Amino acid sequence: MPDSTFTPRVFSGIQPSGDLHLGNYLGAIKRFVDMQNAGDFETVYCMVDLHAITVWQDPDKLRHSTRELAAGFIASGISPEKSILINQSAVPEHAQLGWIFNCVARMGWMGRMTQWKDKAGKNAEAASLGLFGYPALMAADILVYHATHVPVGEDQKQHLELTRDIAAKFNHDYDVDFFPLTEPVIEGAATRVMSLRDGSKKMSKSDPSDASRINMTDNADTIAKKIRKAKTDPDALPSEVAGLDGRPEARNLVNIFAALNEQSVEQVLADMGGQQFGTFKPALAELAVAKLAPISAEMERLMGDVTEIDRILARGAEQAREITAPILKKTYEIVGMVG
Ligand code: TRP
Repeated sequence: MPDSTFTPRVFSGIQPSGDLHLGNYLGAIKRFVDMQNAGDFETVYCMVDLHAITVWQDPDKLRHSTRELAAGFIASGISPEKSILINQSAVPEHAQLGWIFNCVARMGWMGRMTQWKDKAGKNAEAASLGLFGYPALMAADILVYHATHVPVGEDQKQHLELTRDIAAKFNHDYDVDFFPLTEPVIEGAATRVMSLRDGSKKMSKSDPSDASRINMTDNADTIAKKIRKAKTDPDALPSEVAGLDGRPEARNLVNIFAALNEQSVEQVLADMGGQQFGTFKPALAELAVAKLAPISAEMERLMGDVTEIDRILARGAEQAREITAPILKKTYEIVGMVG
């Protein structure tokens, strides 16, 4: 449970660096909506554009992707009445606290981050300094709200541990109890969405085959067609989870059905076990269209005239700064800044 001295508050962010797909929806956005609606936390959700530019982004594309991500959030049910929805660069305290944390975090900590090693690859000398410092800005995103809980994918667990290390070192160095030790809320395996062409690969915006993923902007026909064409095996669905072992494509489609229908995999197999894919796929296509087509239609409407999105983001930034400005001010005082 949340530490009693801090307001129970959720923060999470997604990079506006490309096309949104079903993996982003089930793995992140839908969970954000569920946490918002559960009402146990204040919820703050963010398009992390400052993180996106740690690798090159075309400015026009970045603008478009940021608004499209906002449209995806709103169309999926993130309500500006219930959550604070912001673009990171519109709330300057993120970058300001990020600088302080650049001075708290150690080079050695950063160098051990697996995402840094993966993204910088063999040519770390040519990577941006921002890419190296990425996790300190991420810690600032979270801690500038004193957020207590952060829903993220498994791949972000190490960055969350680093966030706790930064909070603890700051508290220790300045002899304060100012920043909370934030809890990660890690997704279950069932929300890990795999490619429709290869059940051993994650669904990804960088897969050259568009048939491998369902984009959040796909219309009803496209969604149904991609599911009908998804790779499967010749066997019927098992009645129990163990029967999915060694059948990654079957497992993926069952996982997607369960997540979209808000059921456990066990329940889905209890209902559908014994069915051939010739029967199961149309049922999945119908479900996916029912859940996703309204979202893509609403995204299209929102993107048709971006003033509504921009207004929501401007209001979000104002609400956010009511939280972040006092926390940054206090941080500066603790550190010894005059002004
Ligand atoms: N690094 C996260 C990702 O790539 C995005 C992110 C940036 C984030 N700041 C955050 C996630 C703060 C959670 C909290 O998925």
